[in-house]
Amino acid sequence: MWIAALQEAMPEEDVVVASDLSDQASLDAVDIALVRGIDPGDLGRFGGLRFIHCLWAGVDRLLTDPSVPTGIPLARTVDPAMADQMAATSLAHVLDICLHHHDYRTNQARAAWEPRHAKPMATKTVAILGFGSLGRRCAEYIAATGATVIGVRSTRTTAADHQPWTTTANVADAVAIADVVVNLLPLTDETTGVLNAALFARFRPGAALVNLGRGDHVVESDLLAALDEGQLRRAVLDVFGQEPLPEEHPLWRHPQVTITPHVAAETDPTTAAAVIAANIGAFRAGQTDRITGLVDRTRGY
Ligand code: NAP
Ligand code: GLV
Repeated sequence: MWIAALQEAMPEEDVVVASDLSDQASLDAVDIALVRGIDPGDLGRFGGLRFIHCLWAGVDRLLTDPSVPTGIPLARTVDPAMADQMAATSLAHVLDICLHHHDYRTNQARAAWEPRHAKPMATKTVAILGFGSLGRRCAEYIAATGATVIGVRSTRTTAADHQPWTTTANVADAVAIADVVVNLLPLTDETTGVLNAALFARFRPGAALVNLGRGDHVVESDLLAALDEGQLRRAVLDVFGQEPLPEEHPLWRHPQVTITPHVAAETDPTTAAAVIAANIGAFRAGQTDRITGLVDRTRGY
């Protein structure tokens, strides 16, 4: 699927599967590596690499893999279709939580007719941690429900673009006013373990967490404690420190936890191939400033 989509999007390039290359001369002839986020493999085998393009949005695995050469540009996939998918996923979870649908599914299992008042969405506040290409699209979808959206990014920005949300650089301030916190941060040295007991203590009591970023953003034992103590009402988790989540992990059976298997927004080869082809075209033309999703290795995303 990937090879066909990529080859069609850039017929001038020779797209090959790395495992089909056996001799060193063929490996050294490769100048661009397209790698999945989860399994970069041994990029040190390619002697002539000049550009690396990750087929995922998150590059955390590549930045910690010692086989990934430094000193050459590294791009991640920024695909508007992926942002739409992530926005749909985040909206589904926010509505499921705010409209008590999870509770009704649980009630149905015991044939319990127990209506709950769902406050209007206009009374709800959703904090989105990580306000980049995905977080901003989620904000558009969620703001359309009437909810107040606050985005957290590393830099404070003004509301000059007149968007229906505010942004802050202060995670603790944002979670303190949110009914639902959606995490879409990149995993970096700074953000590893950011969702920990100290931050959960700043959450509005009874708030919910939707983690669509990376598992290592969450200190899982602190999350379980916050749920058990009632500080958090619900957690929706798409990503985990260990994937697949081990069968014996307590999160699987926690009544307030919803688990999805890292599917919040997959890269779709049919749309992403065009984005990647455009970036490769820019790279070949020596126009690195036109590459979307160029990673700043010092920031880690
Ligand atoms: P992005 O465009 O790079 O946006 C990252 C955002 O996080 C930016 O707004 C950035 O702030 C902010 N940020 C970074 N470090 C921060 C910090 N220490 N404190 C506060 N804000 C910080 O990334 P993206 O494309 O939106 O993707 C986000 C992440 O989603 C990916 O890295 C990946 O882990 C995850 N993801 C998950 C799935 C899934 O299926 N579950 C799919 C795709 C992606 P600035 O705006 O100031 O730079
Ligand atoms: C998936 O998690 C991605 O980073 O694209």
